[in-house]
Amino acid sequence: MYQPDRVSLREVAPRDGLQNEPPVPTADKIRLIDALGRTGLSRIEAVSFVSPKAVPQMADAAEVWAAVEKHSGIRYSALAPNRRGVQRALEAGFSAVEVVVSASESHNRANVGRSVADSLAELPDICALARENLASVEVIIATSFGCPFEGDVAPAQVARIVEAAQEAGAGRVAFGDTTGMGTPRRVTELLDAVATDLPMLMHFHDTRGTALANLLTALDRGVTEFDASVGGLGGCPFAPGASGNVATEEVVHMLHDMGVETGVDLDALIRTAGLAQEIVGRPLESGVLRAGPRTELAPKPEPV
Ligand code: COA
Ligand code: ZN
Repeated sequence: MYQPDRVSLREVAPRDGLQNEPPVPTADKIRLIDALGRTGLSRIEAVSFVSPKAVPQMADAAEVWAAVEKHSGIRYSALAPNRRGVQRALEAGFSAVEVVVSASESHNRANVGRSVADSLAELPDICALARENLASVEVIIATSFGCPFEGDVAPAQVARIVEAAQEAGAGRVAFGDTTGMGTPRRVTELLDAVATDLPMLMHFHDTRGTALANLLTALDRGVTEFDASVGGLGGCPFAPGASGNVATEEVVHMLHDMGVETGVDLDALIRTAGLAQEIVGRPLESGVLRAGPRTELAPKPEPV
């Protein structure tokens, strides 16, 4: 199996995680982002600029971002569903935005209230706006590996959206497995279908236990950028059955043991997953958070 020396992780718990929980206080969001900023992570998706009616959890995005301690070595970004959201992100001072469009019609309508074609039609204008503000645009293609309403999504359909994103002037693309329908086979088929020189990132959810297998499959195919979420928080409020992202500490734990560098301090990350758990007030599903790293030893039983 091919493996790179280094993988770049983007932490998404403050956005993908907290959008899917009962609203938490602004101060807790700031505390979580600040703690993540001290783990060695180099990329954090901090907030989204979406309709407060659609996602009340993100209504305080600008307030959160204004108060967060900003580290020069970290690339912070914000997600937006439309031009209005991108405008708000730029006004708040972000220089990296992620625009979400789904590969499937039904999920795009459920998520952002319009057709895929309408989302794509707005992209050139969004990219121009970002360029004027010296900001970068990544297009996140949700439901890339399957749609909860339509089932399988043809890799060719995802490839068409990648082309549209590139033509519109986006600088990067990401493939979202919104409801964890991806499998190693689907990852391979998607990468076979997509031909682009844009940097590619994969965003896996562990809904059905396939996230780490998917990640390894993508790694073997040369993908070195992944989203992950501390404690495995995450989910899309507009996709029935959506559950957590692959847990950042599980990804880091596995990659470090393989000799793949992430720049992340695993102990600090596990402590931060503990903080995330405290903030949402329920036990999280991450195995590494629950059991500790594989190097952590239990006391030997006393001889009898
Ligand atoms: N930020 C804040 N408010 C926004 C906004 C944005 N980016 N885009 C639109 N709005 C406001 C409009 O001004 C309008 O406000 P009003 O009711 O006070 O007049 C309201 O939201 C509805 O706007 P409209 O254009 O009619 O769109 P809609 O109701 O179909 O909603 C979205 C479309 C995209 C704004 C909404 O579906 C959304 O925010 N989705 C985000 C989904 C999401 O975050 N999913 C998880 C991450 S993938
Ligand atoms: Zn997600």
